[in-house]
Amino acid sequence: MKVKNIVLVGFMGTGKSTIARKLADRLGWNIIDTDQLVEKAEALSISEIFKSNGENYFRKVESKVIHEVMQRKKQVIATGGGAVLSDENRDIMLNNGLVVALKSDVKTIIERVSRDRNRPLLKGDVRKNVYELVEKRKHAYDFAHLQIDTSSSSMDEVLEEIIAYMNR
Ligand code: S3P
Repeated sequence: MKVKNIVLVGFMGTGKSTIARKLADRLGWNIIDTDQLVEKAEALSISEIFKSNGENYFRKVESKVIHEVMQRKKQVIATGGGAVLSDENRDIMLNNGLVVALKSDVKTIIERVSRDRNRPLLKGDVRKNVYELVEKRKHAYDFAHLQIDTSSSSMDEVLEEIIAYMNR
């Protein structure tokens, strides 16, 4: 299978950044984090962008970044958890790479995201917010070519599964 890019999608805390790093190392491809590109473009943190300009503005910048990134090849791209909410983003991902959805159970997600403060959508009652958002997005990642559960496997097992799928 000839793969142009690998695009990792999934809810916050499902391991996209960790897997992206490992995959990029293994393949010798560039690693791209769309959240980081948004922060760079705006010279603000994600939290600050949400606070000053709101979520819709963040989504516009995120879509622009995704559009630009997808013009290139040989990249492992970790996307923000909400990047899949736009039809246009989903189409461009599917047309320019192998889209891998990482899934985790809610308990694992809560454990992972509780350590980080740069997630404005979870601010306040993290547990309650995760439960609500996971429910709201329960089918949002189904469009991916491949789905992998990262709560029951090690990150290395996940990596091998993606590589095996690419080499089919
Ligand atoms: C978001 C996920 C975050 C970031 C922003 C919004 C979401 O990325 O893009 O806080 O809507 O799920 P991570 O999934 O990398 O945490």
